[in-house]
Amino acid sequence: VATIRQLYPGDSFLFLSFIRSLDRKTWESYGRWDWPLNNRTNFYYNIAKTQSFKKDIEEIGLILIINEPTNPTIAGYAHLMFSNKSSRSHSCGFGIVIHQDYQKQGLGEILMKDVLKLAKDIGKKKVWLHVYANNKPALALYNKFGFKEEGRFRKEELKDNKYIDVLSLAKFL
Ligand SMILES: CC(C)(COP(=O)(O)OP(=O)(O)OC[C@H]1O[C@@H](n2cnc3c(N)ncnc32)[C@H](O)[C@@H]1OP(=O)(O)O)[C@@H](O)C(=O)NCCC(=O)NCCS
Repeated sequence: VATIRQLYPGDSFLFLSFIRSLDRKTWESYGRWDWPLNNRTNFYYNIAKTQSFKKDIEEIGLILIINEPTNPTIAGYAHLMFSNKSSRSHSCGFGIVIHQDYQKQGLGEILMKDVLKLAKDIGKKKVWLHVYANNKPALALYNKFGFKEEGRFRKEELKDNKYIDVLSLAKFL
């Protein structure tokens, strides 16, 4: 049984445990920050400061919690990211990561459903995301949810001496 709810400042301990325990492959596929992050506590700070409990909403984070109430553990995180421009207020960015120990159990799908519902409930019409072109699990998940490719950033990143394309995908709600 999994609970999904918004990330709050009081979750910092749980959230840091989650972030710190992600392995390199998972972290790098998530794609938001370098591995290793010098000070991973910055990650929480960066996220926390943009959460909706602050005045200027830039990002809403949802955590997926398992093993409640005895041993609550964060198994996944997803976010919606907003632009300050009014002309972009109908759209939002999206990202998701499920801890390597809990992947392939349907949790990504559960979290994805909730986040898309949230995006729709708050009036968004378009959800976009960026994904490495070689990230097969994520592409399969997005395909399952009806995301369509909008474009390819060729040789967008150089990792371990290899160029990687990044795809831009989107779904209309
Ligand atoms: C992508 C990710 C979020 C999927 O989460 P998950 O909990 O493992 O996925 P689920 O078990 O809910 O599977 C849902 C669908 O995702 C796809 N999928 C998940 N793992 C897959 C794999 N290893 N290979 C192929 N497809 C996969 C399938 O379409 C699957 O549906 P199906 O079971 O009907 O085939 C997870 O692998 C992850 O966090 N990866 C690292 C971070 C990342 O890549 N994030 C995306 C950044 S853009």
